[in-house]
Amino acid sequence: MLPRPDHDPALTDLLEKVYHARGWDFRNYKRTSLMRRVSKRLNALSVGSMGEYSRFLEADPSEYNRLFSSVTIKVSEFFREPEVFHFLCKLLKSDYRDTAVKAWCCGCAFGEEAYSLAITLTECLGAEAIKNTKVFATDIDPEAVEQARRARYREESLWNADASVRGSHFFPVNGGVYKVKYGIRNLVKFGALDIVRNPPIAKVQILFCRNLFIYFNKTLQEDVFEKLDYSLRPGGLLVLGKAEVVPQRFSSRYPRIDKRISVYRKAE
Ligand SMILES: C[S@@+](CC[C@H](N)C(=O)[O-])C[C@H]1O[C@@H](n2cnc3c(N)ncnc32)[C@H](O)[C@@H]1O
Repeated sequence: MLPRPDHDPALTDLLEKVYHARGWDFRNYKRTSLMRRVSKRLNALSVGSMGEYSRFLEADPSEYNRLFSSVTIKVSEFFREPEVFHFLCKLLKSDYRDTAVKAWCCGCAFGEEAYSLAITLTECLGAEAIKNTKVFATDIDPEAVEQARRARYREESLWNADASVRGSHFFPVNGGVYKVKYGIRNLVKFGALDIVRNPPIAKVQILFCRNLFIYFNKTLQEDVFEKLDYSLRPGGLLVLGKAEVVPQRFSSRYPRIDKRISVYRKAE
């Protein structure tokens, strides 16, 4: 019988190897999902064991990048969970109307979420406030960040955006590809940032960190949450993914402000 991923020493050795060779620290990512992603690479290469895969990495170091892409899953879309953006818009109109906002999208993949947030801020904040508003958008994967800056998307990723949003903030480029308009692109500043290893962005009022904690074990969720907590101003909004919750250690300071969606307000 194969060892469970939690206890599989061959997987542990592989993660150590990756960490020492490239600095990517997946050692506290959830083992079950890591095992699935690594197994995909083994299957793609017709490699029979973790030991053999480790030797393959030495013989062909470009495989490190393919493993990295496989582990850092970048599934996203514009206005993912649309109810989050509707809720945020209402809150911006009532509580933030004339306030310039510093927002951060941590784990932004190819930029869909960051641009969705920038569109929401543009449509729901007052004209003066938007002039000094900025969305910082970061991801561990520098290539994804580079692609996000290009702001070109296939129509499928826009299915949650209605005709008026498409018309106001995108223009068609060719063959089913849309580009985000300059006004929105100009609000977003992209950068590579590994939230496990790097310090966070400071003094943020709105922080999106969705569908990233699901890949972390409990210890790493708590360690990373400490960084998010440092980053967010008192009274600031934290948006997590549908299946994610604030770790228990912090929950008394992060009341959930709507029971249907994962939006929390940090205590003042
Ligand atoms: C499933 S995507 C989520 C994208 C978007 N937040 C959403 O919910 O649609 C997870 C993203 O987290 C990024 N990621 C994984 N580990 C990370 C880390 N240590 N630091 C920053 N980003 C990370 C991945 O590269 C990927 O783009």
